[in-house]
Amino acid sequence: MPRTITIAGNWKMNKTATEAAELAKGIVQNVGRQTEVSVVVCPPFTALQTVAGEIANSSVRLGAQNVSDKPSGAYTGEVSVAMLRDLHVTHVILGHSERREYYGETDAIVNRKTLVALENALIPIVCVGETLAQREAGEEFAVIGRQIRDGLAGISPAQFEKVIIAYEPVWAIGTGKTATPAQAQDVHAFIRKELAALQGAEQARKTRILYGGSMKPDNAAALLSEADIDGGLIGGAALKVADFTALVEAGRAAAASKA
Ligand code: PGA
Repeated sequence: MPRTITIAGNWKMNKTATEAAELAKGIVQNVGRQTEVSVVVCPPFTALQTVAGEIANSSVRLGAQNVSDKPSGAYTGEVSVAMLRDLHVTHVILGHSERREYYGETDAIVNRKTLVALENALIPIVCVGETLAQREAGEEFAVIGRQIRDGLAGISPAQFEKVIIAYEPVWAIGTGKTATPAQAQDVHAFIRKELAALQGAEQARKTRILYGGSMKPDNAAALLSEADIDGGLIGGAALKVADFTALVEAGRAAAASKA
């Protein structure tokens, strides 16, 4: 069985609920019927409910961009897994480099959130990736290996079936600089090897590894044709209906040629 190609839009801190409804409507119109590619949209918390309504009768799935590692209680400003589940959220982005850099998220925090998500039947999209300085120092594999081992520690084999990884080189996010398909493939193959060491070769073969970092309609086909690239986590290009549609179409073409 080939791995299902996943195209996920990370809307970051963009779109009011009203604007988000419009974007979601356009996406549903264009790709809300197809089922070859798993399509996920991740609006900000404030737009989850509206977007849930827009995508309700489509194949598009709903993701959040973060979640608390605590179940409930006195944690001002936090949002729990139960709150997300109640809005029909199925996926959650964890450990995005912006959370790591601006909000101090460590691998230990990412690990706690991943375990909480899995215990509550949310699919975590766990992000890993090196900074430019780390790549220039030749440390990318050491950094990513540590993020994988520490971020994904203690997950049972049954739960691991749900985990999605996103490789996002920090130097490629929002910069217009994309990793070349060969550079990305190298890291994806490395990640799959690390997953095999953690969870066994069979599970590693089944796990989806998405690429993120300036993925756009004009570079998606080349990236998605690589053996270990199973989809994309898309920021900027996910905010326009036409671009996101083109990315899903690139995913469908890749799915057909990998089948
Ligand atoms: P980008 O963002 O596509 O705008 O580079 C990707 C991400 O940060 O998930």
